[in-house]
Amino acid sequence: MKSFFALVASVLVAKTSAHYVFPDLIVGGVTSSDWQYTRQTNNWQDLNPQTDVTVSDIRCYDSAESDSAPDTATVNAGDTITMTVYGNPANLYHPGVLNVYMAQAPSGTDVADWDGSGSVWFKIYEISAIANGQTITFPSTGLTQVPITLPTELPSGQYLLRTEHIALHVASSYGGAQFYIGCVQLNVENGGSGTPGPLVAFPGAYTGYEPGILIDIYYPIPDNYTQPGPPVWPSTGGSTTTGIGSTSTVKSTSTVKSTTTVVSSTTKTSSSATSTATGTVAEYGQCGGQGYTGSTVCASPFVCTESNEYYSQCLPA
Ligand SMILES: *[C@@H]1O[C@H](CO)[C@@H](O)[C@H](O)[C@H]1NC(C)=O
Repeated sequence: MKSFFALVASVLVAKTSAHYVFPDLIVGGVTSSDWQYTRQTNNWQDLNPQTDVTVSDIRCYDSAESDSAPDTATVNAGDTITMTVYGNPANLYHPGVLNVYMAQAPSGTDVADWDGSGSVWFKIYEISAIANGQTITFPSTGLTQVPITLPTELPSGQYLLRTEHIALHVASSYGGAQFYIGCVQLNVENGGSGTPGPLVAFPGAYTGYEPGILIDIYYPIPDNYTQPGPPVWPSTGGSTTTGIGSTSTVKSTSTVKSTTTVVSSTTKTSSSATSTATGTVAEYGQCGGQGYTGSTVCASPFVCTESNEYYSQCLPA
């Protein structure tokens, strides 16, 4: 079954471009079967993204499938669980940003019977982009797994956990951003006494016109990036943007204004095309494309590979 799935997916993907889903969850070191805890998404075969933020399928993208996953994973607050990426290639291939939201099922309702509607979602984790006007890097790009640490303050109860990767490679027109989504059913035990928030709804959290969703990441290269959605809860909980993956192309000193916005303090002085193209670019970092002025040399053993005329990336040979 799995090899058939892989064959079908590879044929379809070859005709389009790299797309991906989140079928498996690793809990306590054990990898689930496909779609055991993650609600099977409409794109489980074609892997195509959701692009309309105004429809209910922006929530768990599962309208065409059965409403619930067969199993609910029991975890403890504070645990780290991992969603794995399937696709061709099997990683978060596109330049983009990641958000993880949770929503608690109403008391007395089994999460398997709950659709997650209403203003019930709070964000627990994000991996943003880092932009300084010369380069923009996407630390979530290339991840094959997404480890997620549940806040210790999280109250016990049943939850949906929704991971989204927002691919931004064609996001310069409305509806161009691609949402890759997976919702997992969780039963959280040994919880804390926090009050999660702010709460948003899906649809509702995004209009599609946010500066971090409707954005040209290639030209001119943005000098800052604003992560879509509410701030991460809890604000001091350690689940903030971190540099997983490649950040080596960021050369100037940055000032963190908030958990979601990184603004360069020194970009205005060196914007000419003959600029500081020194050093090597790490795996998944940008190494070329129209308007790009940074280093075009990939760290060994990676090879600068063209995605399109606006974007080349250091990838395994
Ligand atoms: C950059 O910051 C400016 C000023 O705060 C804001 O208007 C703009 O939307 C931001 N750009 C992005 C891509 O987030």
